[in-house]
Amino acid sequence: MEHFLDLDDIPNIDQLINEAINLKKAPYAFEQLGKHKTIGLLFFNSSLRTRLSTQKAAQNLGMKTMVLNVSSDSWGLEFEDGAVMNTNKAEHVREAAAVISQYVDIMAIRAFPTLCDKEKDEQEQVLKSFQKYASVPILNMESATGHPLQALADAITITELKQKQKPKVVLSWAPHPKALPHAVPNSFAKMMQRLDVDFVITHPKGYELNPEVTKDIPITYDQEKALKDADFVYVKNWSSYKNYGEVESIDEKWMMNSAKLGNAKFMHCLPVRRNVIVTDEVLNSNQSVVIEQANNRTYAAQVVLKNILESL
Ligand code: CP
Repeated sequence: MEHFLDLDDIPNIDQLINEAINLKKAPYAFEQLGKHKTIGLLFFNSSLRTRLSTQKAAQNLGMKTMVLNVSSDSWGLEFEDGAVMNTNKAEHVREAAAVISQYVDIMAIRAFPTLCDKEKDEQEQVLKSFQKYASVPILNMESATGHPLQALADAITITELKQKQKPKVVLSWAPHPKALPHAVPNSFAKMMQRLDVDFVITHPKGYELNPEVTKDIPITYDQEKALKDADFVYVKNWSSYKNYGEVESIDEKWMMNSAKLGNAKFMHCLPVRRNVIVTDEVLNSNQSVVIEQANNRTYAAQVVLKNILESL
C-alpha cells in the first residue's frame, strides 16, 4: 500500500479485515517493523479517537510519533498555486510538505471540509496538496469527503459481531444542531458496498448523499420501514449535499431510541450528542457497540500502517 487516501486504496477488503482481527489478538507481533520509523500526525481539526488510536497503532508497530496541531500551533498554510502571500498565511504547503517529509516516514492528515465550497471540498485540496508535495506516504485521518479509517473500524466491528452471514445494516440520519460533513456516511456507504451485507440508507427528503457514492444502494425516507429486521443500525447526522452544507431539518422524530432500534446493535463513530442523535437508554444498553467501534480504530490504523511500512 503506497498511500491510504480512500477505501479504493484497499485491494482486498476481507483480507485486510482478517489481518486487522489477527493484529488485535497479537498487537505487538510486528513491533520491529516500525523501528526507527516516525509518523507525523497533522491535525487541522479536533480529534480524540483518531489522534490517540493512530498513535497507539503506530507505537504497537514500534514507530515514533509526532503530532502537530496545524491550525493552532503552526503557520497559516497557503494552498493556492501562484498566490501573493500578503495575508495571514505565512507558509505554502509546497515548502511545508517537503520539509515535514524530511522528518517523518509517513504523514497522516486530518482536514475537514469547508462545507461552503463544494468544488474545493470535492477536490480534497488539503489532502491532495500534501500528497503532491510530500515525498512520503500519506494517511487520511478524515478528509473533506471521506473517513476511511473509521469505515474500516466499522467493518471490523460488523465482521466480529455479526450473527448471520449476510446481516441487515441500516444507515439512519439523525438530527443535529450544527452542519456536519459527509465524510463518515460517505465512507460507511462505500464500505458497505464492499461487504456481504443487506444495506439500506434512510434520511429525510433533501439529505441525499452524493449519488456517485450511494450508486444503487436502496434509499428510503421511511425510517420505520428501513429499520425493520435490522441487525446493525449506524446512526449519523450529515448536512445537505444538494444545498451544500445547509441544515434543513432538526426533526427530533429521527432521533434513535430503543423502540425503533428493536434488537439491532447500535453503531456511531463518536463523538455523539446524547438525547439529540440517540437516547441515553440506547447508549447505556448492551446493544450499543460504540466503544468496540472506537477500540477497533486502533487495529484499523495498525493494519493500514503495517501495509504501508511493508511497502516502504
Ligand atoms: N470518530 C472519530 O474520528 O473520532 P475523533 O473525531 O474524536 O477522532
